[in-house]
Amino acid sequence: MKLNRVLSIVVLLLLLLACNQNNKLKSDNVFKNGVVVTAHYLASDVGNNILKQGGNAFDAAVAVQFALAVVYPRAGNIAGGGFAVIRTAKGESESLDFREKAPKAASEKMYLDANGNVIEGLSEIGHLAVGVPGSVDGMVKLHEKYGRLSWEKLVQPAIDLAKNGVILTALEADKLNAYRERINKVNSGKINCCYLRKTDFKKGEVIKNPELENVLIRIKEQGRKGFYEGETAELIISEMQRGKGLISKEDLLEYKAVWRPALIGKYRDCKLISMPPPSSGGIALLQLLKGAEEFNLGQYQFGSFEHIHLMVELERRVYADRATWLGDPDYCSVPVNKLLSEEYLVNRFSNISMDNKSNSQEIKAGNVEVIESFETTHFSVVDQWGNAVSVTTTLNGNYGSKVIVEGGGFFLNNEMDDFSIKPGVPNQFGLVGGKANAIEPEKRMLSSMAPTIVEKNGKLFMVTGSPGGSTIITSVFQNIINAVEFKMNPQNCVNAPRIHSQWLPDKVYAETDAISPTVKRNLQDLGHTIQEQSRIGMMANIAVNEDGLLVGAPDTLRHKDSRAIGY
Ligand code: DON
Repeated sequence: MKLNRVLSIVVLLLLLLACNQNNKLKSDNVFKNGVVVTAHYLASDVGNNILKQGGNAFDAAVAVQFALAVVYPRAGNIAGGGFAVIRTAKGESESLDFREKAPKAASEKMYLDANGNVIEGLSEIGHLAVGVPGSVDGMVKLHEKYGRLSWEKLVQPAIDLAKNGVILTALEADKLNAYRERINKVNSGKINCCYLRKTDFKKGEVIKNPELENVLIRIKEQGRKGFYEGETAELIISEMQRGKGLISKEDLLEYKAVWRPALIGKYRDCKLISMPPPSSGGIALLQLLKGAEEFNLGQYQFGSFEHIHLMVELERRVYADRATWLGDPDYCSVPVNKLLSEEYLVNRFSNISMDNKSNSQEIKAGNVEVIESFETTHFSVVDQWGNAVSVTTTLNGNYGSKVIVEGGGFFLNNEMDDFSIKPGVPNQFGLVGGKANAIEPEKRMLSSMAPTIVEKNGKLFMVTGSPGGSTIITSVFQNIINAVEFKMNPQNCVNAPRIHSQWLPDKVYAETDAISPTVKRNLQDLGHTIQEQSRIGMMANIAVNEDGLLVGAPDTLRHKDSRAIGY
C-alpha cells in the first residue's frame, strides 16, 4: 500500500515534469501558451505576468508600454507615440495609430531662419522639437476595445517599478552616461529628477522615480484624463512655457489616437498585416517584398552578390517613393493602391539589372548620412488564445528632446524632426521629403515604423518589428525574407547579419560579416559604396513553429537586455 502510494507520487511528479518540458521544449524560448518579447527583460516579465493572470495579448501590450516607460526611458515612454498592429485569434486585423502630431501653433517654416536655412538642432533638442504625445491615449483605446483585465491592473506593474526602483543594466547605465551632459544642459535648473546627476550612473544601482510614479498613479486612476488633463497636463504646459514650446492645453485635450484598417498585402503564400500611413513602414515593406518575389530572391545564396545587389536596388527605388509620396493621409492624399499595384511595381523595378548599379544621385542630389540609432523600441506579444500584437513605440531620438517634464519625471519626444522640415534637407536619419510630409498644424509626421504580423496559409506565422529610424523597414524586410526565401529558423532570421540602403545617401550600410570580402569586391566593382555599421535594427520576434508552439526570438546578440519570456 505504502509502496503504491510512493509509486503514484513518482508517476505524478514525472507527469508534471513532462508537462513542463512540453511547455518549454528544447529551447528556452519555445512556449505553449504565450510569450512577450521586448528590449528589456523587466518589461517582458511584466507582460508575461499579465498573460499568466489571464490577460490577453492586448492587456500585456498595455502593461509593457507603461513598464518600458520606467525601465527603458530612452525609448519606452508615456510622452511619445507609436503604432500597434493587431491580429485577433479569429484572424481579424486592425491597426492603432497613436503617433504624435504637430501642435496647433506649428508652422511649415518653424525650424528655418530668416534666410530660409535650417536652424541646426531646433527640431531635435529642446521644447520646440516636441510633438503632442499619443502613447497614453493609444493604450487607453487599445484597452477599451480589446482588453480583458482591469486598466488598474495593467498600469500597476509600472507604478511598482517606479516606486521600488529599477536595477540599472550596464547598457542603460552607459546610455544615461553618454547622454548625461546633454540631458543636464537642456534641463538646467531642475532638481529632484532621477535622470539629472552630476556623477556617473552605475550598473547595478537602483533608480527610483517617485515623480513618474505619481503620474502613473494618476493615469491608473483617471485613464487618459490622468495625462491629458489635470495635474499632469499642467506640468507639461508649465514645461512648455519654461522652454517656449508650442504644446497647449487644447493640444493635449484634443489629442486622439486613431483606429485604422491595417495595411494588408500578399507575398508568396503569406498575408502581410502591417502599418498604413502615417507610417511609411507598411507600404515600403510590401513594395520590397513584392520585389523579392518578382526577382525570386530565394534562388540566390544568402549573402551572395546577387542577394545584396538586388536588395539594394529595390531599396533605392522604394525609399525614393517614400520621400516623394508619403505623409499623413489626413492631410495629403497618399496613392497607396497605386504604390502597391502589381503593374506599378513591376514597372518600377523593371530597370534593375544584375550588371549595373543605378545611381541615386541622378534622381535627386543629396549629401546625407545615416546615424546609427536604437532609440525606438519594438515589442511583440502572443497570448494563449492566439491573439497577436506588434507594437513599435518611440520618443524618436534617445531620450527624445531630452526635455524632462519638471515634477513628472518623464522625457518628452522629439518627433517633430520626422517631418520634412525643409524640402530635400535630411533629418537625423538622413531621410528627405517634400510637400507630403511638410509641417502643418495638427498633422502627424511620417514614420518608418513597421510593426508587422505575417500569416501563412491562414494561420499566424510571425510577429515582428524593429527600431532603427530609416533602417526599420529594411530590417523587417530582411527578417521576413530570411524566413520565407532563405528558410531560416526564427532565431537565425533575427541573428543573421543585415545591410541597409535608402536611396540617399547612395551607399550600402553593412553590419560586420554581412558581406564577405569577395562579394564586397564584386559590389564595389559595380560602383556600390559600402560602409560598415556596427548594428542595424533590433528585432523582437515571435514565430509559430510547425507544432503550433510559440518561438520567441529576441535580438539579444545586438541588445543584451532583450528577452523573450513566456509560459
Ligand atoms: O517614426 C520613425 O520612423 C522614427 N521616429 C523612429 C525613430 C527610431 O527608430 C529611432 N531609433 N531607433
